[in-house]
Amino acid sequence: MANFYSPQTYGELNEGISQVLFSEEDIQNRVLELGQAISRDYEGCRPLLVGVLKGVFPFMSDLLRAITIPVEVDFMAIASYSAEARDKGYVRLQKDLDESIAGRHVLFVEDVVDTGLTLNYLLGNLRARGPASIKVCALFNKGRRRLISVPLQYKGFDLPDKFVVGYGLDYRELYRNLPFVGLLKPQVFSPGR
Ligand code: IMP
Repeated sequence: MANFYSPQTYGELNEGISQVLFSEEDIQNRVLELGQAISRDYEGCRPLLVGVLKGVFPFMSDLLRAITIPVEVDFMAIASYSAEARDKGYVRLQKDLDESIAGRHVLFVEDVVDTGLTLNYLLGNLRARGPASIKVCALFNKGRRRLISVPLQYKGFDLPDKFVVGYGLDYRELYRNLPFVGLLKPQVFSPGR
């Protein structure tokens, strides 16, 4: 039996959380299912998992270990822009992949897909490099805010149209280390009120 941390273990960080949406156990069970499906579908293909730093790293780490076939991993990083620039779909690569993806079966791993603009830009960028195939595995999906249609072949959970933190997702670089995902209390966004 796995041991899961209780939210109270995270003291000060947990005090900022108003509601846990997905417990550590929920997330670990779903990641295991995704890993099993990917292992079946990519048997004999040696897929390359591609993630975007930093939010994806806990999910990538757990997903990788839930995959039981030979698999490789690589990362990109993008510069964060103002909300306005992001809304226009502007993305600047800060770190590119280390290896060529020409002829490879690429599985793009995302933490959360919201408007879909970031994913749409990155998929276009990767498709131009001639992979044998490219599919997407997203742990969280905020479908109601989608501005552009993006294919999600593997999906963990649907999220409400709310800002969430934990399991890699941050607010001002904090909360990434929570093993669960939750909503923040309003006072975290506007301290002193
Ligand atoms: P999109 O381009 O609107 O789909 O934005 C996706 C990116 O926005 C994700 O990779 C996250 O970095 C960030 N993001 C979207 N929603 C949340 C959230 O609720 N919490 C933390 N980061 C988020």
